[in-house]
Amino acid sequence: MSEAPNPRENESSPKPDSCNQEKERIKHLNAVLHSIREVNRLIIQGKERKSLIRSVCESLVNNRGYHNAWIILLDENFTILESAESGLGGDLKLILDRVRKGELTFCCRKVLTESGFLAIDDPFTECISCPVSQMYDGRGGMSASLTHESTTYGILTVSVPPIFSADPEEQRLFTDMADDIAFGLYSIEVAQKRRETENALREARDKLELRVKERTRDLEDLSSRLISAQEEERKRIAGDLHDGIGQCLSAVKFIVESSLEQLNGKVDGADLNALKALIPLLQESSEEVRNIVMNLRPSILDDLGILATIGWFCRQFRAVYSHIRVEEKIDLAEAQVPDSLKTILFRILQEAMNNVVKHSHADRVEIQLRKRGQAIELTVRDNGRGFDADRLREINASEKGFGITGMKERAELSGGVFEVDSAPGRGTVIRAAWTYTRIRPIS
Ligand SMILES: Nc1ncnc2c1ncn2[C@@H]1O[C@H](COP(=O)(O)OP(=O)(O)O)[C@@H](O)[C@H]1O
Ligand SMILES: [Mg+2]
Repeated sequence: MSEAPNPRENESSPKPDSCNQEKERIKHLNAVLHSIREVNRLIIQGKERKSLIRSVCESLVNNRGYHNAWIILLDENFTILESAESGLGGDLKLILDRVRKGELTFCCRKVLTESGFLAIDDPFTECISCPVSQMYDGRGGMSASLTHESTTYGILTVSVPPIFSADPEEQRLFTDMADDIAFGLYSIEVAQKRRETENALREARDKLELRVKERTRDLEDLSSRLISAQEEERKRIAGDLHDGIGQCLSAVKFIVESSLEQLNGKVDGADLNALKALIPLLQESSEEVRNIVMNLRPSILDDLGILATIGWFCRQFRAVYSHIRVEEKIDLAEAQVPDSLKTILFRILQEAMNNVVKHSHADRVEIQLRKRGQAIELTVRDNGRGFDADRLREINASEKGFGITGMKERAELSGGVFEVDSAPGRGTVIRAAWTYTRIRPIS
């Protein structure tokens, strides 16, 4: 059975001198390890290289691991990007001045262009040309490049008592720490690049959004202009038809009737039959022209307003489509409908009723125009066979009719909303609504 070694005996066995040295060494290594822990913490937290290298230098000196520490970050042309120091009392600027002039100090040249690491026992005598060598009087120095994956970010130099700068373990700890710092700088660079990419992406997305908005606005302007040009054109054609063919037909009818009156009794009745047959034809033609004119642009809309126009429209509708019952529910006054909405309301009603006739197979349709809170709302509801409104939304513009698209466009361009609620077998409701404060004219 062997006895466990006595730590006290071990401690007392070496000569007093080397024992003290060993104690010093352990104390120093502890300080260095403490610094390394601190540096690693800084690397993890580091978001910006300037503050990282400054804190690293301070930590290396404050923890008593090293007398002084400095870092210079350079690009591949040895242009200085950042620098930091602790314990040099500001003298780092002497080295920086040299580097700026293109004169790398011995340690910089060695570490950055040759070996990546350098330990000097006595810089005071060995580095005569170095502007800060007096700071190393009685101390050793260690320099290491800050390199990660073949990218060199700069140089780290520290000063320690010469016995430590020559110690391989010390050197290994020092170069490991330099690698960690380089990794920290690499991470900051990656994060910075990512931020730049994200910013560039965000900028590109913002630009795109702006362009889409501009395009949309341009298209809306264009649609608005087309709609109002169409309204103008309809008005003009309606006017021309009314004043031209319409009046002409009335005049012809008047002349035929007058002639018949004058000829009455003077000519055999049978001879006048052909002329008499003209009267109902002329009457029919006049009415036809009148209908066309009214559908193009009912003058009643300008003369009497939207409520009267809806009334007239329903009467016409009932007369032609007697199998469909039409109910009108108008719950507002003419003055509550802004002028700019009147034509829009009429066109939406016209198209909705057109669809009822064309597609719905309904026998009842309800038209409602009312004020609802701060909004004005038009609904047209039929009890017909309905359709799949969701599918209609999905099919692309070129395949669908213009009716629903046109109603929606008119409603939205004038600041309103438009919905179609329908499903097979359930009838159809179309609804257009405008909040008063958002109504804008289509121009
Ligand atoms: N009231 C309705 N009842 C049944 N189906 C309708 C109704 N309104 C619209 N639809 C359906 O929606 C489609 C699109 O209507 P619309 O855009 O007005 O185009 P169009 O009338 O030229 O076909 C119609 O083809 C029809 O299938
Ligand atoms: Mg239609």
